[in-house]
Amino acid sequence: MSEGMIALVTGANKGIGYEIAAGLGALGWSVGVGVRDEGRREGAVEKLRAAGVDAFGVPLDVTDDASVAAAAGLIEERAGRLDVLVNNAGITGGMPQTPTTVDPATMRAAVETNVIGVIRVTNAMLPLLRRSASPRIVNMSSTVGSLTRQTTPGAETGPISAAYAPSKTFLNAVTVQYAKELRDTNILINAGCPGFCATDLNGFRGVRTPEQGAAIAIRLATLPDDGPTGGFFDDAGPVPW
Ligand SMILES: NC(=O)c1ccc[n+]([C@@H]2O[C@H](COP(=O)([O-])OP(=O)(O)OC[C@H]3O[C@@H](n4cnc5c(N)ncnc54)[C@H](OP(=O)(O)O)[C@@H]3O)[C@@H](O)[C@H]2O)c1
Repeated sequence: MSEGMIALVTGANKGIGYEIAAGLGALGWSVGVGVRDEGRREGAVEKLRAAGVDAFGVPLDVTDDASVAAAAGLIEERAGRLDVLVNNAGITGGMPQTPTTVDPATMRAAVETNVIGVIRVTNAMLPLLRRSASPRIVNMSSTVGSLTRQTTPGAETGPISAAYAPSKTFLNAVTVQYAKELRDTNILINAGCPGFCATDLNGFRGVRTPEQGAAIAIRLATLPDDGPTGGFFDDAGPVPW
């Protein structure tokens, strides 16, 4: 893996997604900056280019079929293939979200973006990924989606969350099913947790920097051909389901 690689990062205008785009760009890759808002997209592309990244804007709302199809069309036209897809875009759906009081709309919003959005984007990009010599898909999950951690006394589990945490458990389960279906291909698909990073998602309460959070995505995006698939990792290694 070296120069000439093409990546798409969803939700790349800020937070961890921006730093993933910057990190992949620093490897000499061309990076599609998937962002739903035009102003935020142009701002991120401009900033990345000023930092020397070969960045290009990709209008992309992961909850919108037409937007995702157009994004695939744009990459097809520009590069004819995709080497790495990082499904980073995510929302909490709004806090607090205690199970006994949660609004079903909050549940739907979290699943629509964090799970169905990932499936929508992945399936639209798969024809382009299949043309790569070493395709990688990275799903940005969270250890709050680990049922083992959630049920281990003393483990870091985050706040009580009926929508966000289960949406990441769901995403992990979907990642495993993709890996099973794609087992006989050269596509490696894994879930990664960035750790608790200071971003808009948590009101900047995180203790790690977004750049630190991006490291696991960059590692999973650059796995060797004999690397793992269908796994769940953070900086420390495999995370229990
Ligand atoms: N921060 C943490 O501690 C932490 C921990 C574990 C996992 N994660 C995961 O890491 C990923 C990035 O989180 P972050 O902390 O960097 O959050 P963030 O700063 O809030 O950024 C989220 C990104 O997702 C985008 N997004 C949301 N809905 C979208 C949609 N429908 N279509 C396209 N883009 C959309 C946002 O775009 P807009 O600017 O347009 O809203 C933004 O670019 C998420 O999947 C999150 O669950 C974060």
